[in-house]
Amino acid sequence: MHTRYLQWMTLAILICATGRLLAASGVIRPGEPWFDQHGARIQAHGGGITFWKGTYYWFGEDRTPTNDLEKRYVACYSSRDLVRWKFKRQVLALADPEHLGPRWVLERPKVYVNERTGKFVMYAHLDDAHYKLARVMVAVSDRIDGTYAYVKSFRPLGEESRDIGQFVDDDGSAYLIFESRPTKGFFIARLTGDFMSVERTCFIAAPLEGGALVHYGNLYYVVGSHMTGWRPNPNVYATAPALTGPWTKFRNLAPPEANNYGSQSTMLLKVTGTKKTTVIFMADEWRPRALWDSRYLWMPLEMDDGSMHLPPPQPWSLNLKTGETTIH
Ligand code: GAL
Repeated sequence: MHTRYLQWMTLAILICATGRLLAASGVIRPGEPWFDQHGARIQAHGGGITFWKGTYYWFGEDRTPTNDLEKRYVACYSSRDLVRWKFKRQVLALADPEHLGPRWVLERPKVYVNERTGKFVMYAHLDDAHYKLARVMVAVSDRIDGTYAYVKSFRPLGEESRDIGQFVDDDGSAYLIFESRPTKGFFIARLTGDFMSVERTCFIAAPLEGGALVHYGNLYYVVGSHMTGWRPNPNVYATAPALTGPWTKFRNLAPPEANNYGSQSTMLLKVTGTKKTTVIFMADEWRPRALWDSRYLWMPLEMDDGSMHLPPPQPWSLNLKTGETTIH
C-alpha cells in the first residue's frame, strides 16, 4: 500500500512540476492540460477574458469534480502575460436561482467592466436540464475578483438565448452576442448604460453558436460554430464594415476536414502591440463525459484583409509588448 501511495504521490508531483515548467516557459500549448500557480488544472471553460488595469482576468465554468453538485461555479484567474494564470477564487458559487431543477445549467460566463457605475457585471447562459429556459443571468460585484451577487435572469430582447459571447469595441462600448434558435440566427446587442439589459444592434441570419467578435483593421469579424452540442464542427466566420452590417457570407475558419481541430469557439482576443496586432482564437475542446478535463485551444489567427484562418494547433508564444507571436 505504501509503495502504491508513494508512486501516486510522485506522479502527482511530476504532473504539477511539468505544468509549472510549461507555464514558466511562456509557451501556450493548445490542447494540453493548463495549470494555475498551484499546479491545479485551470477551470475556466466556455470562458471570457476581461482586460482591466493592465491585467487579464479569465472567467469560465469551473467544472471541478468535487464541487457541490447542487451549485454552479465560475472561477476567476488573473495573468499579466496570458500564459501564467493565478487562480483568484470561485467568484460565483450559485444555488439554483430560478427553480430550474436537477442538472440546471450555467454556461459561458463573461464579465464586463462598467466604468460609469464602477461595477463588474457578469452575464452567463442560464438554463434547465433540457435547455428550454434559454435566458441569460446577470450577477454583479464591486470587485473584479469579488463574489458576484445574482441579480436576475431574462431573455435578451425577449428572444430565446443560449450560447453567449462577449465583445468590447475599441471605443469601450460593450456587446452581448447571443444565439436565438427560433429566429435561426444570432444577435449582437449593445449593453445598456448600467449593463443590466441590452438593446438590439444587429441580427445575423445564420444559425450559429459559440459566437465571438473582434474589431480588426477596418472590419468586424464574427466567428461561430454550427449546432452540434459538445461535438466539434468546422467553425465559420463573416466580416462587415460595421456591426450593423452588411455581413458577408460565412466561410470556413480552417479546412473543413480538420473539424476545427476538435474545438469550439468561445472568444476572440485582440492584442495590440507596438509592431503587430494579434487576434487569439480561444476555443474549448469539450470532453462531455468529464467536463473538468476539457482542454483549451488558443491559437493566433492568420488575418489578412478580410480573411481569417485558424492554423493547425502548435505550441506558440506571444510578445505582449510587440504583439508578435512565435510558433515553436
Ligand atoms: C454546445 C454549447 C455549450 C453547451 C453544449 C451542450 O453547443 O456551445 O456551451 O451548451 O452545447 O450540449
